[in-house]
Amino acid sequence: MTVKHRSDPLTYLTAELESLAAQGLRRTLRVLEGEQRAHTTFDGRSVVNLSSNNYLGLATDPRLRERALAAIEELGVGSGSVRTIAGTMGIHLELERRLADFKKTEAVVVFQSGFTANAGTVSAILTRDDVIISDELNHASIIDGARLSRAAIKVFPHRDVAAARQILRDLPAGPRKLLITDGVFSMDGDLGPLPDLCDLAEEYGCIMMVDDAHASGVFGANGRGTIDHFGVHGRVDVQVGTLSKAVGVLGGYVAGSRALIEFLHHRARPFLFSTSHPPAVAAACIAAVDVLEQEPQIIERLWEHTRFFKNGLRELGFDTGPSESPITPVIVGDGALAMRLSDELFEEGVFAQGIAFPTVARDRARVRTIVNATHTREDLQFALDVFGRVGRRLGIV
Ligand SMILES: Cc1ncc(COP(=O)(O)O)c(C=O)c1O
Repeated sequence: MTVKHRSDPLTYLTAELESLAAQGLRRTLRVLEGEQRAHTTFDGRSVVNLSSNNYLGLATDPRLRERALAAIEELGVGSGSVRTIAGTMGIHLELERRLADFKKTEAVVVFQSGFTANAGTVSAILTRDDVIISDELNHASIIDGARLSRAAIKVFPHRDVAAARQILRDLPAGPRKLLITDGVFSMDGDLGPLPDLCDLAEEYGCIMMVDDAHASGVFGANGRGTIDHFGVHGRVDVQVGTLSKAVGVLGGYVAGSRALIEFLHHRARPFLFSTSHPPAVAAACIAAVDVLEQEPQIIERLWEHTRFFKNGLRELGFDTGPSESPITPVIVGDGALAMRLSDELFEEGVFAQGIAFPTVARDRARVRTIVNATHTREDLQFALDVFGRVGRRLGIV
């Protein structure tokens, strides 16, 4: 049979890509050659890596590798099913018990990723009759979950509790309300105002939800997150964490009451309709929880490096925004300039990814840096020297 020639219906995508190229915003994926380490090789160039969420270096930790390998030997490489059919293994439940103890909640359910944890939970617990009150800089997975739920979405300006209060005041008493914030905002590194939002949630009878993806393993005692950092245990109904960042592996989880978790078993679509983690993932995550419980000094090292690097950038004259975490943005405004800064840093041995619209607002483009516990002082000083040199060359400082 001869195939009839037809015109490519996707040519409009090529035009979109050409338009991105014309604006200096078309990107190719950088390729990591070898392990995700603080000083490593991308695209054949040896660089100080300031782009990884591997905050504590656990992605390459020998203890996690060993437990993952043992799980592969004992249990195989795949779970073979979604959780609700045949894909719940003892090791999944063990991880959930460990995380519930760690987070000091009744129960935990693990999802395939932080993204599916947020999107799956928000869309499961709300309906079209409900309202979600959401910080304007909340993560995309929260926004997608809200859209899937068909609840009305009311967005308040970033960290503006008074504006959130005004929204609540204007709402009728009837609909169920979810007040939601990131614990740490992923592009600015600042913190959600949890105590004030918890007060507000209690005053207006809202469900309170926090996405602690960037806080787990970073903030609070042993990395228990912003709920612990702010001392609001028991006041946040739905806590989301990720296993893909400081924990170093892959996955997301929801921590909360037994009823919440059992409801998600029945209604969270990624839990119902997508295969569960391979046992090696669960095993490595359990080993990571052991490390967090036994070695809080790694987290202290992360914070020492964070203070040193953040101060260094500020002293050089960069605009680092309101960051309070190991995520420090270097805000330059224009998207093309952010990409140029990132490219020139890379040429000189520093990998810090450029971030532009739609990930951040059009006039808030930036290079985003993340310090890891496994950087050395020399790595960070080298990076600061390069930032200073390139920043002056491009007229940014
Ligand atoms: C605030 C926030 N929430 C959720 C996620 C999603 O987590 P994961 O990468 O585990 O899907 C991310 C990461 O990209 C994030 O930054």
